[in-house]
Order: sequence, then C-alpha cells, then structure tokens
Amino acid sequence: MSKILKIRARQVFDSRGNPTIETEIYSKNLSASAICPSGASTGTYEAFEKRDTKNKKYLGKSVLNAVNLVNTKISKKLKGKNIHDQTRIDTILINLDGTRQKKNLGANAILSVSMAAKKLSAKIKGVPLYKTFLIKNNYKLPYPLMNIINGGAHANNGLRIQEFMIRPDKAKSFSEAMHICFVVISNLRNLIISRGLSTSVGDEGGFAPMISSNEKALDLVVAAIKRSGFKNGKDVSICLDVAANELIKMKKYSIHSNKFISVDQSIKKYKKMIKKYKIKSIEDPFGENDWIAWNKLIKQTNSVQIIGDDLYVTNLERLKKGFLNNSSNSILIKLNQIGTVSETLEVIKFAKIIGYNTIISHRSGDSEDTFIADLAVGTNSNQIKSGSLARSERVAKYNQLLRIEEELGKKARMNKVN
Ligand code: PGA
Ligand code: ZN
Repeated sequence: MSKILKIRARQVFDSRGNPTIETEIYSKNLSASAICPSGASTGTYEAFEKRDTKNKKYLGKSVLNAVNLVNTKISKKLKGKNIHDQTRIDTILINLDGTRQKKNLGANAILSVSMAAKKLSAKIKGVPLYKTFLIKNNYKLPYPLMNIINGGAHANNGLRIQEFMIRPDKAKSFSEAMHICFVVISNLRNLIISRGLSTSVGDEGGFAPMISSNEKALDLVVAAIKRSGFKNGKDVSICLDVAANELIKMKKYSIHSNKFISVDQSIKKYKKMIKKYKIKSIEDPFGENDWIAWNKLIKQTNSVQIIGDDLYVTNLERLKKGFLNNSSNSILIKLNQIGTVSETLEVIKFAKIIGYNTIISHRSGDSEDTFIADLAVGTNSNQIKSGSLARSERVAKYNQLLRIEEELGKKARMNKVN
C-alpha cells in the first residue's frame, strides 16, 4: 500500500489556448500529473465539463472552480487512500460528485485526478503505464487513424464532414504505419500547394484548405494516396468522422451538401461515397438520438466500420442500448466523456465482449499528455485517433506509441484492422 500524501491541481492551457485542469498527486517521494482534454463537437450525453461561466476574466472559460474543488473537497477525501486501488479512488470520486453527469465536481476535475492516480500507481510500481490496464501480455499496437483534412467544427473552411482520415492498413508495425502516413501527408501538402490552396492546419493538425465539398476533399486524399505509390482501400484506407450531430435539423441531415435531406436519401449518398472512395470506416454518420437511422445504415453497409462517438459518449448504458439496437460495430473511447479511468475500462471490456472494435481518441482541445497512447496498447484497442502528423499535442501520442513499440521489441504486434 502507498498512501496518497498530497493532491494539487492547477489551471494550465490546452492546444486551442483554452484553460484546462492539471492535477498532480504525490505519494512517497514520487508524483505524477495528468491534464484533462476538451472537445468542440461534444455530445449532449457527455459528462459535464466545469467552467467558470460567470467569471469574465477568461471569458467564462477558466476552470478555477474545478481546480479549487480538487484542492479542497477531493483532496480531503482521497488523502491517505491507497494509490494502487484505482476502483476505490474512482468510486469515491463518483460518489462524492453524486450526479449522473458529474455536474457537481465536473468531469474535468474528476478525470484529471483519476488519470494522475493511475499514472502514479504505475510509477511507484516501476512498470510502464500501458502494462497496468486490461492486458497482461501479447500487447498489440493500434492502427493510427490520422485526420489529414479538417472540416466541421474544427476548421472554418465550410467542409461539412468534420474529419477525413487515413488508416495505413498495409503497415506491419507501428513505425511502418507512421512512415506510410508521413508519405501520404507530405504528398497531400504538395498537392494542396499545387492547387494554390492554403496548407494551414485545423484544430487536429489536418490541413484545412478552403474547399467546401466533401468530394473535393476526398479527391485530394485519393490523389495523395496514389501519388505516394499506395493503393486506396488496400494499403491505405479512407475513414471519416461525419460528426452528424452538427448537421441535423428536424430529423434531416446536411451531410452531403448544405441542403437538408432525409435519412434514406442520406444513406443512398453514403453508399455511393463508400463505393466510389472505398471508405472503410464512418464515425457518427447520424445524430446521437437517431438510433433507427444508425440501424438502417449498418444493415446496408456490411464490412464498413461504423463507429459511435457522440452516440455512446463512452457510456455503458448507451453502449448497451446501441448493441441491442444493432446501431454500430465499433465505439470511440474518450476518457473525459465519462470522467474516470475505471468507468472507461468497464466500457472497453463490454465492447470487447460484444465484439465491437474500440478506438481510443484524443479531443480537439488536447495537450502534451500521452495517457491515451498507453491506454490503447494496454487494452489492445484496434485503432487510435490522435489527429495528423502536425501539432505536438497530436504527435506526442504517436511518439509515445513508437517508444512503446521499441520497448516491446520483438514481441510488438499490430492489432487487426477490422
Ligand atoms: P471533439 O471532436 O473532440 O471536438 O468532440 C472529436 C470527435 O468528434 O471525434
Ligand atoms: Zn467524433
């Protein structure tokens, strides 16, 4: 047993320059810290992010109340507890808050404590973080889903689909996966320049050129894959995050153009797009309450990975509902959607039981914290979404995976793609 001696939270800043919370926990002569990320296209059912909405000093965005709660209430409850008992720590946090969506303490306050505790426990034991989750050996590295063109709420270019990603399916190792993505992204940059467009990047490091049609973005990605000497749909696959919550009005969707059309018409267009561009994965193709639309789509698109992000918000109850409804075959995992490490692991465990792929994800507002890289390996998750090969808060996670791969040495294996 190692007792928690001190807990100290502070306000730091995320990749968008917004305030966020970092918590540091001390035990023995060691300490570990964790930073909470923050989303832009958030689901209604996500756990609550506590911000000082009335404090105008940071335009309502500071997290000083959350920091204060960690330094007083939470610290008081957790001092003296065993740092290695993550379930107990998380249960105390959940009970201390006492609400379904963690509205009292804020999921950002709670998660920063939960992640810091997990990190410190590993540090005291002297084991790498990835070895302290669900998997005990036969670790598998995730395929990166690199978001190379940004649209939607992550850019201001008018692109309807939020994320155009590549997945290097041909890669036999994580370092090979990185190489493939590097080449495709470099070629994409040159293609964008040659069309006289801007190579500035969006919140997740993907290019955000001023193009407003999905097809134009997809044509660019296909051309970059081809120019790199790879086969689209075989060596490298195109994957999308539609984030359709942002594109819904009265049960109609404006995914494919700025005109709102019915679910059935949208599915028709999806099918066309999947065929033409050999799309292998679609995240949030419909809204978070439109369970029937999801079921209709999955029945008509076999072998495509359909991922629930805003639909499930890393929440076990919602995942169970999706499973019963046959809504998707995969789930996106974001720690701050639910608020503790233990609850996140419960969701991953259940997803594995029902045969869903698990894809560990960053948030559009992220930090230098690399917790999710270890989480992906420690749960043998199929894929990881951490943006493009640009902006250090994105690349930090990929770099950590390279370190893990090196440490695993000959034992390192890639996960299966689908
Ligand atoms: P968010 O976007 O972090 O802004 O919610 C990421 C996603 O939708 O996957
Ligand atoms: Zn998403």
